[in-house]
Amino acid sequence: MSEVPQPPPEMPEMPYRGEYTERARRARLGWFRATTGAALRSLDATSIDARSLPGNLENFVGCVEVPVGLAGPMLFAGEHARGHVTAPLATTEGALVASAARGARAITRAGGVVTRAVGQRMVRAPFFEFAGLGEAAEFAHRITGHHAELAAEAARVSAHSRLVELDPVQLGRTVHVRFVYETADAGGQNMTTAATWRACRWILDRLCVPPGPSPTLFGVEGNLSGDKKFSHLNMTAGRGIRVIAECVLDPDTLRAVLKTTPEAMDRFYRIGVVAAQHAGMPGFDIDAANVIAAMFVATGQDIASVYESGAAQFSVDPDGAGLRATLVLPNLVAGTVGGGTGLPHQRDYLEALGCRGDAGARRFAEIVCGFALALDLSTLAAVASGQFADAHERLGRPRRVAWATRADLGAPLLQPLLAASLDAPDLAVTGVTWPEEAAGPSIITDLTAQGERRKLLGVLPVRASWEAGGRKGTLDLVLKVKPLDQEVIIEAAKLASLCGGRLAEVYPRWRDWTGFRDLHTRELAVYRSPDPALRRVLPRAYGVHEDPSRELYVLVMERLGPDVILKDTAEDPGLWEPGHVAAAVRGLAAVHAAWLGREADLLGSGLVGQCQTAARMAAMRELWHALLEHNRTEHPSLLDETAARRLRRVIDDIPVWWARIEAMPRTLVHGDFNPRNIALRAGDLSLVAYDWELATLHVPQRDLVDLLAYVLPGDAGEHEVAELVALHRQAVVAAGGAAPDAAVWREGFRLALWDFAVTRLQLYLMAHTHRELPFLRHVVPTVLRLLEIEDHAGEAVGVRSPA
Ligand SMILES: Nc1ncnc2c1ncn2[C@@H]1O[C@H](COP(=O)(O)OP(=O)(O)OP(=O)(O)O)[C@@H](O)[C@H]1O
Ligand SMILES: [Mg+2]
Repeated sequence: MSEVPQPPPEMPEMPYRGEYTERARRARLGWFRATTGAALRSLDATSIDARSLPGNLENFVGCVEVPVGLAGPMLFAGEHARGHVTAPLATTEGALVASAARGARAITRAGGVVTRAVGQRMVRAPFFEFAGLGEAAEFAHRITGHHAELAAEAARVSAHSRLVELDPVQLGRTVHVRFVYETADAGGQNMTTAATWRACRWILDRLCVPPGPSPTLFGVEGNLSGDKKFSHLNMTAGRGIRVIAECVLDPDTLRAVLKTTPEAMDRFYRIGVVAAQHAGMPGFDIDAANVIAAMFVATGQDIASVYESGAAQFSVDPDGAGLRATLVLPNLVAGTVGGGTGLPHQRDYLEALGCRGDAGARRFAEIVCGFALALDLSTLAAVASGQFADAHERLGRPRRVAWATRADLGAPLLQPLLAASLDAPDLAVTGVTWPEEAAGPSIITDLTAQGERRKLLGVLPVRASWEAGGRKGTLDLVLKVKPLDQEVIIEAAKLASLCGGRLAEVYPRWRDWTGFRDLHTRELAVYRSPDPALRRVLPRAYGVHEDPSRELYVLVMERLGPDVILKDTAEDPGLWEPGHVAAAVRGLAAVHAAWLGREADLLGSGLVGQCQTAARMAAMRELWHALLEHNRTEHPSLLDETAARRLRRVIDDIPVWWARIEAMPRTLVHGDFNPRNIALRAGDLSLVAYDWELATLHVPQRDLVDLLAYVLPGDAGEHEVAELVALHRQAVVAAGGAAPDAAVWREGFRLALWDFAVTRLQLYLMAHTHRELPFLRHVVPTVLRLLEIEDHAGEAVGVRSPA
């Protein structure tokens, strides 16, 4: 059976060809939707005016947004780029901006980068083919004698392009003539095409007339210019701007910022050079093209030119005790006028770079080269110090996991939970909507979002409508969808790795013991617990959903709103009046009382997960010291040498005082009891405490320390602290807890403070290296003040301070 070929189905034509209006854009978008069947919702809006696009684009339909991040400021001592410069980098490659910023910080700390744009060229290469080799040779010879006339012709097209060289290259019967121009601030590809075309007309009309050589074929470009291609010829002869950046990094900067040594950088560099030779790479660099591409996108350069512009020569050399690093970009094809540089966003970024005036292109080239050098240095350092591999660690999963979607988390999940918790077996969830607003700031969720991005995580507001027995209602809820403990542990380890040095070395040994283990199961156990003391302080819970096969650990609870006060006030300690602090302390004291001394019950309850011991805390001193030293170097304005010295002694003495903690009556503590995780009911100021994932077995005072660290000022009075410690004890006693006497209770507070100061506070500070935690600006001084008060108080009552 033979098939009769069918004519293709008729395609409607794209509308409004050649028209630059919003009407045309919308019609084209409609056509695009109709012919592709795709919804294309994101293309509806654009901030670019269609009328501004002639010369830049045809068939305009919409825009693609590339996020732009800032690296710098970096100190420049160039010819055109001087002082501090901040670079906009348009990219979607994670860690690129952070790495360039790190390199920039190192270079600036070491005195800055010296840059020079040493030449600028744009090349067009028309060809002339002749009947014979001899004729071609004669033409090649003759043409060089007419530089002046050809330059004059070219200059008629643009005052900005100057013909500086005429280089005939004979290949058999064909002569390619490399017209080499300087083009001021334009990239110059278009302008030199027009100029060369005009010069060629002169050649054809004046030189190629009898009895002179007469070409059998002519073209304005024979591919020798290398436009949009990488070529050895251009790398040596030059096309675009030839620009160089150089810096000298001292060993201290290499250690403090790039977490490596001059020797390690030099060795890794040399190994890379041999490999580059083996692979036949024409230049040598690490990943300079990342910065070139990102800055090209941000500033409206011709993106395809990244191909040739990415040629680079990176080198390092020992310099005294430090390291000299140089980057040459021989072919940076870039401009600051023309092309896409006039579009609104691109123009703004160029303006921010100070590249909109005369010599803007050279300044731009110096800036690109400086930041490309910064990135090359940072990436080489990351490889040399092992961070590069750590940064890519992922949780190994033996099988594919079917991640939950919002559809799974809606009615199917809510229906059974609401039916049970509202005691209405016939309850039906009739509708679920997901309000857009974010629930609130979250450190853990943000951290884990860096890992498995396909996984839906975090606190998600949801509104559920239900019907049961003829009644109807709606509930404003939140779903807390939790990461696995190992996901958090891996991301925290990456932060430690990025810190480098000793911290990066010892953290992996202890990464399972910094408090995150079991975090995904602990909080579920808390919300399942029938303990009335606990239930009184939790948000109203509607149940939990646990499905390990889908890594699904979900809490469903009331959405706290205007009915509570002081929620999310970690950055506003001033809002916490003494009455509020007392209410929070009293509220939690009931939980402390209920579990005080019941260690065995707690350990079997699932509420506390893996708990710390004195022996392990002692063994972990290498980690606590490494954290402290990192933070001392990284955040000198928060931790001065006096504070660091005090904390070093506290760490040294861990075996003594942690044994005391173990000997004291312990209880269920919240473990993260501060205004990021608590609020008060607006009416009676009763406590609401959520986020129990760090719940653990500890002295009850551990929660008080946490709270006071956040809500007391850095000049808190001794008396005020003593009163709050006493109030906590009284409230525990009043709730039926068998609290030790006041002096031992106070000692427990001091031990809990030391524990907080050398563990949690230092982990926060480590995180603060990479992500600003603004509350630390007041929490750290308050903790230091509390340490001072406790040293005093210990002396006053004659308690020998082990530390
Ligand atoms: N029941 C709730 N109602 C309204 N908002 C809530 C509720 N539970 C949590 N949130 C908001 O979501 C934020 C994050 O929740 P939660 O603290 O439980 O998560 P997390 O990821 O463990 O946060 P972090 O690591 O920062 O402590 C809270 O700070 C709060 O602003
Ligand atoms: Mg929280």
